Amino acid sequence: MRETIHIKASRPYDAVIGKGILKEIGPAIKACLNYPHIVILTDDNVDRLYAGTVIESLAQAGLKCHKYVFPHGEQSKRIDTLCGFISSMAECGTGRADAVIALGGGVTGDIGGLAAALYMRGIGFIQVPTTLLAMADSSVGGKTAIDIPQGKNLIGAFHQPSLVWCDTDTLATLPHDILRDGYAEVIKYGILFDREFFDGLTFESDIVRTVSASVRFKRDIVEADERDKGIRALLNLGHTVGHAIERLSDYSITHGEAVAMGMLRIARIGAAYGLEDCTDAICSKLTAFGFSTECPYPADDILNAALADKKRNADSITLVLPEHIGKCGLYNVSTAVFKELLSTTER
Ligand code: NAD
Ligand code: GLY
Repeated sequence: MRETIHIKASRPYDAVIGKGILKEIGPAIKACLNYPHIVILTDDNVDRLYAGTVIESLAQAGLKCHKYVFPHGEQSKRIDTLCGFISSMAECGTGRADAVIALGGGVTGDIGGLAAALYMRGIGFIQVPTTLLAMADSSVGGKTAIDIPQGKNLIGAFHQPSLVWCDTDTLATLPHDILRDGYAEVIKYGILFDREFFDGLTFESDIVRTVSASVRFKRDIVEADERDKGIRALLNLGHTVGHAIERLSDYSITHGEAVAMGMLRIARIGAAYGLEDCTDAICSKLTAFGFSTECPYPADDILNAALADKKRNADSITLVLPEHIGKCGLYNVSTAVFKELLSTTER
């Protein structure tokens, strides 16, 4: 089974999701895109597992390529990796008509996309995501970024890919915790947009269907608000508190775990704010996926860390609150009200 989802962004493109399709990437690029030379960006883990298949497929399609490998992990999402990659593109003669393939997780996609946005003021870009988070979320929508010591994703650009190619078989080699982290974002789509999807979601759900549904949810938001000026903020469900928890733990709590804790806390906050109480439904779904839902930090610490986040806006904060499972809204509350809601939901 294979699904193709068309995304009508400023640069329209397809996301193709299927099992075992990695070896077809070369012919797919050759058939619909006109890139004479491809530069592959990947990390050391993914290089070992999947770069060979991609390089062979590109060669079979008659496409020349060059590869740049960086050490895996968020700590590589920084300016020297970006500059190292861009220099290597220049050294191998990459031109305006060529394209970057980001083969890997969200870190690779974010660096590769930013490099493609910057090099010669913008060249082609193909996302080949190999983590669930990257398939379901980061490979679609054109956000690219690197981190600086002052904060995550502070240097970035919007640069839509021209193709997203998801081989769900690559998830077989993903460590369980990293796979589970991706499910936090998938559960998030259920809370945001679709009760039936939320109710039916389990670890055993068909993965092609799960990724395809996620890409469709993301497509709808990106088409409505590509530049993140309005409703794209809904995708931050659980992230304001989640980012605060990640930061307080000095990133020992992973992004997925922190978002899970953040989604539950925000459900409690929604109930305290007078909306429908979705706490039990969200708690049981997260627990079924093995997430710990108890937040280890006091309300004051979360408040301070959340206000230090770049989403802070003067003395108010925009919260994404569940109105019921399948629908959420954006609520602008004063920091005083946010503080009170955090305190009343502490237990
Ligand atoms: P990641 O890219 O670091 O991948 C996680 C780990 O899995 C890495 O060690 C990697 O080497 C390994 N890996 C990847 N694919 C594998 C496979 N198939 N088999 C075995 N190991 C594999 O992290 P991630 O969780 O994919 O992405 C997180 C990043 O994504 C963060 O930097 C975050 O800011 C970013 N992000 C971006 C967006 C966006 O819209 N641009 C959205 C969400 C998150
Ligand atoms: N992952 C959030 C966004 O793409 O807007």
